[in-house]
Amino acid sequence: MVYDYNYQDSKISTGIVGLDAILFGGIPKNNQVLLTGPAGTGKTLLSFEILYRNAKEKRPCTFITFDEHRASLLENVKGAFSDFDDIEELIAKNIMTVSEHRLLEAYGTRENFEAFISGLNKTIRLNNSQIVVIDSISPIRPLFDDDRIVTRAINFLAENFKNLGVTAFFTHEVYNASNIIDDLLGTYMFDGLIKLNTLGEEGSFQFLTRVVKMRGTDHSNVSMPYEITPNGINIFR
Ligand SMILES: Nc1ncnc2c1ncn2[C@@H]1O[C@H](COP(=O)(O)OP(=O)(O)OP(=O)(O)O)[C@@H](O)[C@H]1O
Ligand SMILES: [Mg+2]
Repeated sequence: MVYDYNYQDSKISTGIVGLDAILFGGIPKNNQVLLTGPAGTGKTLLSFEILYRNAKEKRPCTFITFDEHRASLLENVKGAFSDFDDIEELIAKNIMTVSEHRLLEAYGTRENFEAFISGLNKTIRLNNSQIVVIDSISPIRPLFDDDRIVTRAINFLAENFKNLGVTAFFTHEVYNASNIIDDLLGTYMFDGLIKLNTLGEEGSFQFLTRVVKMRGTDHSNVSMPYEITPNGINIFR
């Protein structure tokens, strides 16, 4: 099936053909989407590619990393996606912003956390971003001693981007892929949940993705295999 994304005003194409097919066209605008998976399953790369594909369509977007230094993130992405030779050009044109924020600044008090989020919003407003990635929310947990405060902080973060009117992707590392919610204590605060996973053992293993929920659209519930190629994530159909 072929979708004409230009006529889908209510959705944002992920720019990844196989994922758009699973999502019957794309992600409903303003949805807050959690992207979970064990280490190394491609959370950073998949979310980066969604922004990259949209930036190429002239939709301004921002990739915010809590996990890595900006330079090493860009080096890793360019290494994995060696066919994407215009990343720096999109950044220079201000269509794509890649920004590193140190979560430790948010440590300690609610005021610090809220000031930190205001800093993120400032970055996002600079180029009127429509799509945002937060990679990842996993390091929020050690900021607080109490799980309920962690949940509240993540809730606050998701609500913040909802109010800002952007479509946002939050990556989250889970240790055991069968335990999707892991330490988040629930995914009710997110409109969408996309799981990345691995199946099998070393040597013969496979990456699999599944859309568990996506408010505002019907979608396939089937697990689809994918591969990471120099030209992007390829989801088999
Ligand atoms: N240069 C490359 N060539 C081919 N595949 C690569 C390359 N670099 C990375 N990969 C693939 O991408 C995977 C890592 O992707 P990514 O960093 O997006 O994962 P992640 O889920 O964000 O991991 P983490 O939990 O560590 O943040 C690797 O496991 C590998 O399969
Ligand atoms: Mg990552």
